[in-house]
Amino acid sequence: MSVIVVNGKEFEPYLTVAQIDEQIKRVGAEINANYDGKRPLFIAILNGSFMFASDLFKELTIDAEICFIKLASYKGTRSTGHVVTSIGLDESLKDRHVVIIEDIVDTGKTLSEFLPQLMDQQPASLKIAALLHKPEALVHALKIDYLGFSVPNKFLLGFGLDYDGLGRNLKEIYTLVGEE
Ligand code: IMP
Ligand code: MG
Repeated sequence: MSVIVVNGKEFEPYLTVAQIDEQIKRVGAEINANYDGKRPLFIAILNGSFMFASDLFKELTIDAEICFIKLASYKGTRSTGHVVTSIGLDESLKDRHVVIIEDIVDTGKTLSEFLPQLMDQQPASLKIAALLHKPEALVHALKIDYLGFSVPNKFLLGFGLDYDGLGRNLKEIYTLVGEE
């Protein structure tokens, strides 16, 4: 692996296929141990999480379901402020064991605004699985229950993560060159 150029910017290797695979296997084993017999429902948040969701789901040996949603955020009225809505969530969450699958938790804004809407449906439990987490960037209190990697506050690319729409297809994870 060496430096690559995507959308005119240079990115250098950060996590290898083997490192990513190892952590996904570990997270998968934790989930298998914790959810046996509970038939969890995984909710993968598109677009970024599709690769992590696919690899993680393949590690599961328990009965489990998965669905994919998109989050759309828009400015509401002055009183409601910033609003996050989901597209594609058809399943009822009542009394289900739910696990959100995210590619990366950065400021935590998106999830912290979305989770209360899911809690309204009274799931039996609601947990978060994220491949990557930037603790230094977190501004909204959020507990990540199943985490692949804690990473520095730098821009990452690949394995589902994009830079202006490109780079999601990369098998490895890269970081922007020269960013401090
Ligand atoms: P948050 O609301 O700030 O936690 O936003 C998280 C979302 O921003 C993730 O689901 C990603 O789609 C995107 N994101 C955050 N950091 C990066 C990054 O380093 N590379 C690519 N996308 C990112
Ligand atoms: Mg995302």
